[in-house]
Amino acid sequence: MPARPHPDLPADFAHATGPIPATGVPPARRLLPLAHAGGRDRLTCKYRCGDACFHDVPNTSDNPYFGDLLAGAGLSRRSVLRTGGAVALVAGAGVLADAGLAAAATSPGASGATGAAGATGVARAASGGTAPAAALTFAPVPPNRIDNVIVPAGYDDTVVVRWGDPVVPGAPRFDFEHQTTAAQLKQFGYNCDYVTLLPLGKDRALLVVNHEYTDDELMFHGYAGGATATIEQIRITMAAHGLSVVELQRVRDSGEWELRQPSRRHARYNRRLHTWTPYKLTGPAAGSSLLRTGADPTGTVVLGSLNNCSGGTTPWGTVLSGEENFNQYFVGGNSATGAAKTALARYGFDTTNAIPSGSRRWDRADSRFDIAVEPNEPNRFGWVIELDPFDPDSTPRKRTALGRFKHEAATVTLTGDRRPVAYLGDDERFDYIYKFVSNRRMDRGDGAAAHRHNLTLLDHGTLYVARLTGDSPAGEIAGDGALPADGEFDGAGEWIPLVSGHISHVPGMTAAEVLVWTRLAADQVGATKMDRPEDFERNPVNGRVYLACTNNSNRTAGLQDEANPLTSSVVAGGATASGNRNGHIVELEEDGDDPAALTFRWRIFMLCGDPNAAHTYFAGFDKSQVSPISAPDNIAFDGAGNLWIATDGNVLGSNDGLFAVPVDGPERGHLKQFLTVPFAAETCGPVISWDHKTVLVAVQHPGEVTGATPENPASRWPDGDQPRPAVVAVWRRDGRPVGT
Ligand code: FEO
Ligand code: CA
Ligand code: CA
Repeated sequence: MPARPHPDLPADFAHATGPIPATGVPPARRLLPLAHAGGRDRLTCKYRCGDACFHDVPNTSDNPYFGDLLAGAGLSRRSVLRTGGAVALVAGAGVLADAGLAAAATSPGASGATGAAGATGVARAASGGTAPAAALTFAPVPPNRIDNVIVPAGYDDTVVVRWGDPVVPGAPRFDFEHQTTAAQLKQFGYNCDYVTLLPLGKDRALLVVNHEYTDDELMFHGYAGGATATIEQIRITMAAHGLSVVELQRVRDSGEWELRQPSRRHARYNRRLHTWTPYKLTGPAAGSSLLRTGADPTGTVVLGSLNNCSGGTTPWGTVLSGEENFNQYFVGGNSATGAAKTALARYGFDTTNAIPSGSRRWDRADSRFDIAVEPNEPNRFGWVIELDPFDPDSTPRKRTALGRFKHEAATVTLTGDRRPVAYLGDDERFDYIYKFVSNRRMDRGDGAAAHRHNLTLLDHGTLYVARLTGDSPAGEIAGDGALPADGEFDGAGEWIPLVSGHISHVPGMTAAEVLVWTRLAADQVGATKMDRPEDFERNPVNGRVYLACTNNSNRTAGLQDEANPLTSSVVAGGATASGNRNGHIVELEEDGDDPAALTFRWRIFMLCGDPNAAHTYFAGFDKSQVSPISAPDNIAFDGAGNLWIATDGNVLGSNDGLFAVPVDGPERGHLKQFLTVPFAAETCGPVISWDHKTVLVAVQHPGEVTGATPENPASRWPDGDQPRPAVVAVWRRDGRPVGT
């Protein structure tokens, strides 16, 4: 489709595909209620995370909070942040560089790529492309409320696959008015999140995408809640959860990709995984009494994976996906007693009411979602799953060695001796960050035996949780904007072992209990509470590890210190709100550049928000040159090691989007917005293709606004009728690497 300038944007700058509304704001939006907690709409809160922000924080331990460490490091000092804060922080970056501790001010290739290449091993192996330079050349997309995908001048975008598109042969055409379970089982699912692109050759690729949850109000006419939904409607939503594997083909040697229409000849790998797909539980907790049910007395086979959020791609060519807000699918939590009840509460289950408010009522279609019927069924969700997309007959696995919590993602790198290390965030306010270190080495062979071996790597190793400390005495902060003596807003950390195989390191808990009730184990060892730790992964070029903490609406009165960016925020219109509404990004350096290290250093890389607000920091870069950003969520790296950041829940008055920022050299911290997504959508993925020609993002929940219905949608993207979550490809028209 030819590029068309949008009337709300400079003519030379951005374009969009698909229908463009006559005004910048979809008409329905003006009729509908506004967003709230953490920038999310009430409908998002209800379906995404079961209204987590409106319930008490599940972590009632008195473990330390990361925000308090920043106060100790001087970041909370009003004088630093409100008067000359930017200058002080820029100066701080210089101090870091002088000390050789900050971003190496050399080319990324010179900054220690040892041992990290495995994280993108699959892509690199098939690459053949030239790694792009680090500088980002595109003109940033400004904040906007346009109901479309907006990309920089010189770029094009297209919808690759959307909710309801055919995935397996025989899938019927999507028919919004007459959707059925049988059709949905063969079609692309709803709310796509993690995206990965695996080469099948130069011009063919496998796209693997997961489907986190459904917006039932937007899928059906007259939907009035789980209690009155038809059983067929409930089953359709169950079928729309899970994962999709589809084959793509390149369009004309460009960075554009299109869905290969599934047929018996062209769909060898195509696959839909849904709520009735069998998964094998593996690792030390498999078979535990905590995992056995009436339907599965062995405790080893689970039907379905729930609330798949982000994920990871392993160096051995498999795909990982994190089961996140699985608590919202169950009723009957009030029936639990004793330790089981304590554990359910720690995972955010409603243990007071038989039917939690807003329940999807999946129990009406399948009684295992009633805890009173199957007390252990909830324990069978909340894992990292591993799928071998190149074996369409394979049984996907739930890897118990990686622990059970609200897994955002699982991103794998390799140690120098090829042992996988998976970084793991537990996406809940005041929950923890973890890593798993395998004790087996990846086999680099390409035969069947090597592959079988590699499929065991995530079953054997040690699970750790992080404890962080700040290292700048508050007494060193003079209150005049000067930095502490060590010149950094930083500190140290240690990885505390929780469990190694069948050996528990937590007093009073068995190994199986540590793995099934990992949050309770981490509470005991003094882990550090974070602000919704989401994507967490290692930069394949500089070896450092980056953690996106999305936000923390922090509704606890009395915690607001206006000078602390993690307890007070500037939001749209310059208003002040309690909590950390804009999020931040932390940069970690494992000791010895070894991902298996037991200790690390951390520093703040970015305090997100409106750069005009004092509470923001962009690695010391000139704040007058950066794009506003709010709620960093999924992250990815391009071939040059630039950090790409997708957002979820912008509170600055713009649609969510995708940003890119160099993390090394003189451009370190120069954040630019690369695209925006349609109205009320979140940006997920992202992934940069192995040949650097394409960026793919998932546009999740377009039009997800309270009060929106099929008759009055808040978004009409992508086709001008009902909103349909979709995966979008973006490429440069001149065929050069994206971003640079
Ligand atoms: Fe599904 Fe943590 O976002
Ligand atoms: Ca997320
Ligand atoms: Ca990521």
